[in-house]
Amino acid sequence: MDIQVVSKTVKQVVCDALVVGAVRTKTGQVATTVVLTETAKSVDVLLDGLIQQICADGEFKGNLGEITTIYTMGKLAAKRVIVVGLGPQETAQALRRASSIAARHLQNTGAHHIALALNREQLNVDAAQGVQAQVEGALLGLYTFKKYQHSNDNGNGRGIRKISIVAGEANKEDVLGEAVRRGSTLAEATNFARDLVNEPPNVLTPTELANRASTMARQFGLECEILDRPQMQELGMGGLLAVAQGSAEPPKFIVLRYRGASQNTGKGMALVGKGITFDTGGISLKPAERMHEMKGDMAGAAAVICAMQAIAALKPAINVTALVSSAENMPSGTAYRPGDILRIMNGKTIEIVNTDAEGRLVLADALSYAATESLSPVIDVATLTGGIVIALGSVMSGLFCNDDELSDELIAAGRAAGEKFWRMPLDEEYAEQIKSDVADIKQTGGRPASSVTAAKILENFVGDAKWAHLDIAGMDFVDNPKPYQEKGATGFAVRTLVELAARLAK
Ligand code: BES
Ligand code: MN
Ligand code: ZN
Repeated sequence: MDIQVVSKTVKQVVCDALVVGAVRTKTGQVATTVVLTETAKSVDVLLDGLIQQICADGEFKGNLGEITTIYTMGKLAAKRVIVVGLGPQETAQALRRASSIAARHLQNTGAHHIALALNREQLNVDAAQGVQAQVEGALLGLYTFKKYQHSNDNGNGRGIRKISIVAGEANKEDVLGEAVRRGSTLAEATNFARDLVNEPPNVLTPTELANRASTMARQFGLECEILDRPQMQELGMGGLLAVAQGSAEPPKFIVLRYRGASQNTGKGMALVGKGITFDTGGISLKPAERMHEMKGDMAGAAAVICAMQAIAALKPAINVTALVSSAENMPSGTAYRPGDILRIMNGKTIEIVNTDAEGRLVLADALSYAATESLSPVIDVATLTGGIVIALGSVMSGLFCNDDELSDELIAAGRAAGEKFWRMPLDEEYAEQIKSDVADIKQTGGRPASSVTAAKILENFVGDAKWAHLDIAGMDFVDNPKPYQEKGATGFAVRTLVELAARLAK
């Protein structure tokens, strides 16, 4: 994609469609009115007040993502003007969503070159943030996964190939060019994660996940180390090995290292990912109905690997290590069983009661590994429990954290990235449910508060680190197509992790 900041006026910019924004504001208890952004106002003047007319007639209300199209008939160099609703407030997230929706709409209606002029002076959002959000939004909105389909509809000579960002502010091209770079880096990393999650499980095995991580590492200048079964045995990774033992696919432990800190500034942070490339439940087999969705059980691993790509490109001044435990959870004659007792890398033992609770086992080894390297903070990302889907649905991810400051920082990073996190408890009373008669810990705590007891298990392996656990089950896919995104993988958490690394580097 060719993306440029242009300092032309809205009248001069030559394109298939010029995109401007409008905010819906409350005027009374129930009455609302549409307020055009400064840019939209100047376009409106060139169109002899047509936009205001459309608003006055009630055809366009300024709701987030609402679109109205006006052909310019030569009054502007742009062929069409698209007015997009920003909703009640012109936030970065509103700009991101509006930009996604406009780009998707224009992709399907024949535009090749679009010009974005959504954000401007009125704002809660500074110019650079606004440009970043628009670029991010457009590239996220335009994402498709069609590699296994013959008819590649979106190609069809109709794709968007060029995006101009109408800056308006002269002398700011440098800052805005950097904002374009940030936005496209974050969107590309998110789309990379979507590709990994969308890949079918016969293609994306642990070996293939490791290959894609190492190819990316080579391209972006990250150190990469892939541990195989013998090395896992040597380290005593009893959780990862047990989960993998029922599958014909060998497990992989993926280590990526980014070194951005100047000397003597600590070991740096760890990003830990659950990389179950397919979760059948194992001997405690899942029902057939939605089992195919369990190809997304490596969404945490994808988030972590792809965040490393963006971190490598943006170069924050901090060291970051990514640790991914990857395996396939299958039932077979060699599979691990309910009743087994496993020993995790840090020496603690776990009594298995349900082989479908495999995520905590593979994470336990990865968290132990982070502890041996004294990494802190440690952020793990996992599609861990059905319980968090029941609690929070597909709107936000659960956040469990042993440090208030880190928790606040993560929630704030998420807000900047357009991703929501809700803090969940880790109170000691919950540990009661995971006491075992025969081992140090029981693998599951039953149905009550199941996402909390899963997090309590993980807590046993973090050592002294400041630690946060993001349970992103339910966030990995969208089941219905959204105006801002096609059906399928979301790439959730990539942008929050990158934003967190940037904040901790300061
Ligand atoms: N991968 C699943 C959790 C999951 C559920 C992710 C729905 C995405 C959507 C996990 O491995 C699992 O099976 N968890 C079980 C654990 C239970 C058996 C203790 C759960 O939460 O139901
Ligand atoms: Mn499972
Ligand atoms: Zn799972």
